[in-house]
Amino acid sequence: MRLSVIGCGYLGAVHAAAMASIGHEVVGIDVDERKISALSKGEAPFFEPGLQEILTEGIQSGRLTFSTKMADAAGAAVHFIGVGTPQQAGGYAADLTFVNAAVDGLIPYLQPGNIVAGKSTVPVGTAAELAERVVKSGATLVWNPEFLREGWAVQDTIDPDRLVAGVPDGDEGARAADILREVYHTAVAKDTPFIVTDYATAELVKVAANAFLATKISFINAMAEIAEVTGADVTQLADAIGHDARIGRRFLGAGIGFGGGCLPKDIRAFSARAEELGRGESVGFLREVDAINLRRRDRAVQLVVEALGGAVFKKNITVLGAAFKPHSDDIRDSPALDVAVRLHGLGAWVTVTDPAAIENARRLHPQLNYVEDRDEALRGADAVIVVTEWDEYRRQLPPAAAGELVAGKIVVDGRNCLDAAAWRDAGWAYYGMGRP
Ligand code: UDX
Repeated sequence: MRLSVIGCGYLGAVHAAAMASIGHEVVGIDVDERKISALSKGEAPFFEPGLQEILTEGIQSGRLTFSTKMADAAGAAVHFIGVGTPQQAGGYAADLTFVNAAVDGLIPYLQPGNIVAGKSTVPVGTAAELAERVVKSGATLVWNPEFLREGWAVQDTIDPDRLVAGVPDGDEGARAADILREVYHTAVAKDTPFIVTDYATAELVKVAANAFLATKISFINAMAEIAEVTGADVTQLADAIGHDARIGRRFLGAGIGFGGGCLPKDIRAFSARAEELGRGESVGFLREVDAINLRRRDRAVQLVVEALGGAVFKKNITVLGAAFKPHSDDIRDSPALDVAVRLHGLGAWVTVTDPAAIENARRLHPQLNYVEDRDEALRGADAVIVVTEWDEYRRQLPPAAAGELVAGKIVVDGRNCLDAAAWRDAGWAYYGMGRP
């Protein structure tokens, strides 16, 4: 099938390459010339496992092309909208400028019978408004939210947990759903649940899923706060409640909390939209979820300060991690970098290392010291804080060897990812988050 993908950021670039890898002929469109020129040469614009391979393969096969011209989308049967919906400057609501520009820019090239499939995360009600514009060209709008996780984006796109299609009523909607089934033929052949809904439900599925995940993380972090004043261990608590299949252990990792390009902005946009709809109180808890999440960063900084005897001024602190999570070079709203910046603000000499995100981090926070080599970064540290649970720190850093490099054997485990007993046995003062 011929497809276009409008917007070649994180979501769009992965979607375009993944769709080409399952046999479609795909053109990716973006206004950013630098991005399109890199993608056209087969260069992945960000770190994402597996992306480079399918990008190269798609370009070599001739099935995958990129362009800055919207006109090149003409002729595709399905046009995916994968542009960003960032948090509005000075507010919590989502900024829909890019979605509106993409749809309006595409309309002149639409042919009757085409499908426009929105993938961006939008406030509920957006699809119905866009549909009014799209329908004038004889095309059909569907809302097809994306649930990919960074670090697993290629796998999540090709082999998702579920597919959701918000469609209009009647035959038009049924036909649109059938076309989407053809697009995702490999997942459909594996009996992946394919849920057909109305627009509002499809839009809400996405924000509800993210709100639930964020709530789960903040719930366990709230328990960490209680554990801190009672001497309980939140990791054991999470294991114990996680055995209840109704609760489940995943996303009960207490630590410095969630960040990234989705969860923080999506829960804020959801709150803002609920307020607009006169139902702010229904999701009032999301403000608590956000507040708990941000408090964990303060707590991590406080632990370092306490461990160093009350002040970090002119102390050497090595920060292990900068990305908002492992297997990613993404530093958007990264709790890891936020902790590093706050320690620097308190007068510490902060050295940051990360297997993938240093370049991005340096651009955003040039005031910090960056070192590529982990062991080099550890040398002479008065304290170490782990803020992104890369295997390089979690599994592949022997505490005894690390102890030889540092000046002070103090480790703050901002992700509760280290073997506390092993670090203590090697002579370290170990501090976890919500652990005695
Ligand atoms: C998230 C959703 O998982 C995905 O479905 C959606 O499409 C986009 O948003 P992503 O932002 O890639 O994906 O990251 P995710 O793996 O969900 O992690 C988000 C943040 O939560 C990270 O900062 C991570 O470190 C943190 N986290 C996750 C915790 O603090 N504890 C946990 O137990 C799990």
